[in-house]
Amino acid sequence: MDAKVEMIAAGGDGGLVLQPGHDPYHHLHDEAYAAPFSEGRVGWRDLISVAGRRLESLDGTWNFVLDMHDEGLRQRWFEDAPDPIGGWTTPRDYDDGAWQTTTVPSCWNVMRPEWTYFEGGAWYTREVAFAPGRAGERVFLRVGAANYEARVFLNGVFIGSHRGGSTPFFIELTGHLAAGANRLQINVDNRRRPERVPMNHTDWFNYGGLYREVGLLRVPAVFIRDFGVALVPGSQGRRIAVDVTLSGPASGTARLRIDGLAEDVAIPVSEGVGRIEFDAAPELWSPARPKLYPVRLSFGEDEVADSVGFREIRVEGQRILLNGEDIFLRGICVHEDDRDLGKVSTEADIRRRFADAKALNANFLRLSHYPHHELAARIADEVGLLLWEEVPVYWAIDFANPDTFADADNQLREMIRRDRNRASIVIWGVGNENADTDARLAFMSGLAASCREMDPTRLVSAACLINREHFRVEDRLSEALDVIGLNEYFGWYEPSLDGLKRLFANSDLDKPLVITETGADAVAGREGRPGELFGETHQADLYERQLDLVESAPYVRGFCPWILYDFRTERRQTAYQRGWNLKGLIAADKTTRKKAFTTLSERYSELAQQQTPAGA
Ligand code: GCU
Repeated sequence: MDAKVEMIAAGGDGGLVLQPGHDPYHHLHDEAYAAPFSEGRVGWRDLISVAGRRLESLDGTWNFVLDMHDEGLRQRWFEDAPDPIGGWTTPRDYDDGAWQTTTVPSCWNVMRPEWTYFEGGAWYTREVAFAPGRAGERVFLRVGAANYEARVFLNGVFIGSHRGGSTPFFIELTGHLAAGANRLQINVDNRRRPERVPMNHTDWFNYGGLYREVGLLRVPAVFIRDFGVALVPGSQGRRIAVDVTLSGPASGTARLRIDGLAEDVAIPVSEGVGRIEFDAAPELWSPARPKLYPVRLSFGEDEVADSVGFREIRVEGQRILLNGEDIFLRGICVHEDDRDLGKVSTEADIRRRFADAKALNANFLRLSHYPHHELAARIADEVGLLLWEEVPVYWAIDFANPDTFADADNQLREMIRRDRNRASIVIWGVGNENADTDARLAFMSGLAASCREMDPTRLVSAACLINREHFRVEDRLSEALDVIGLNEYFGWYEPSLDGLKRLFANSDLDKPLVITETGADAVAGREGRPGELFGETHQADLYERQLDLVESAPYVRGFCPWILYDFRTERRQTAYQRGWNLKGLIAADKTTRKKAFTTLSERYSELAQQQTPAGA
């Protein structure tokens, strides 16, 4: 029963009776209960740069309950006073979940066996002790990522919401926080839905929860919301552009310092926006020489700090040029997936991922199919790896649905705003394996346009499909792209490699093509005879033969097979797979290398010899 209904007086038996007109059961009949909680939705414009800023961590133990029926939203549990259950005079269905806890960040699926396959809503509750700071300060809750839709409540009040499972969001708490104890509740819903991005059908596991760091950010009344530092495209590495966006329409001067390049540059800011360009000759960033420069930018009381590499990436005909030099992308795809941690990415795990990629002699990774933890691009900047980042516009998205576009576009802009100062990122991906329909063409061309509006310094691509009618690489979307990505599984889903030979022969491209996926499942430790499916021998042979063909097609300027590690996916239910995709070059233990790992690392080593220094 809905406990919030006012009682008026004691009944004959001393029990409390309800105020006339109050229906304690109305929540049983209100299927529009969720609508109010999609209000106050935050998005890319609400992002705040955290470069060089200190967050007060809220990670650790939170009270936690699953809420399969969204009872908490229906009955508005968050409005209940957190008084101890022993003192209740009327029954309620929720008591802050203190009887059960979980860890943040984590995915609920790996925390308890009985939660493994749960898809639905869940409540995270914790106390936040708040000590007001300097006058005028603003306080924001920052969530690194929550899959999929998150609703935030503070001291019994709904504050705001966010959707999109792989990008950060900020909810302002200024004015809502009390000095001392506060009750913070976050409802997270990971249901797979046709109108969401991704939609309800994916070849990866649908983890749920607060799976990246959560914290409080304090900033001055006027603060630096976003800034960009990059080479001016076409300046041959001789001109730097810096832009700054403030939290509001303030005017004045921002001050920039780039150690070793620019001591104290004044940036005029008007109505909250400033931009300058100046001549400079930075040492250019490349995988072989990942040179980073310390950058400091201040406005008024506020300051951000970052480490930025300067490099130029562009295409010229069929070639991809890094700092003006022709480059071949020796890549590997990778998911954010771990046998023990699920979708949680730790620094150690990311560094292992990149060390394995380096051991493959790769210079490029496709972070598939959604924005990975922001640490990934920071570490790639540091160790020298090129990245493709993408949004989960995957398979049969509801392309004709304007709200789905708004969701996808917002996720894309959040990704770009979060990572646009990362030299390692050279390609934004706007989708994967989507059927060539008019609605899709409009949708994804729109996303490509958003990329260019948000960031004119990088390439735009998508993992496209083969035009089966003409049996060639031909996709109307490629008009909107700089680089054409192609997923092909000749030698696996299409057993004969002749198809790839024919495809290359039939295709005539005026843009670079990158093989964004290919590969085969192999059970680690199962040798198998040549041609025998699910064996390591078959997988390794396939890589050899794929690379032989790829190296014969001049417009193929990158090879990025599927995938570095075996990963969890409920779509795979053979005796070999049992809920795992086994196309990894390394098993799910992230240690056991399959034969194909050696095959690819040797081929990549040869390719690296032929590579110009920039791409080495
Ligand atoms: C697809 C898809 C991947 C999937 C892979 C596979 O191309 O993009 O997400 O895992 O194929 O079938 O293994």
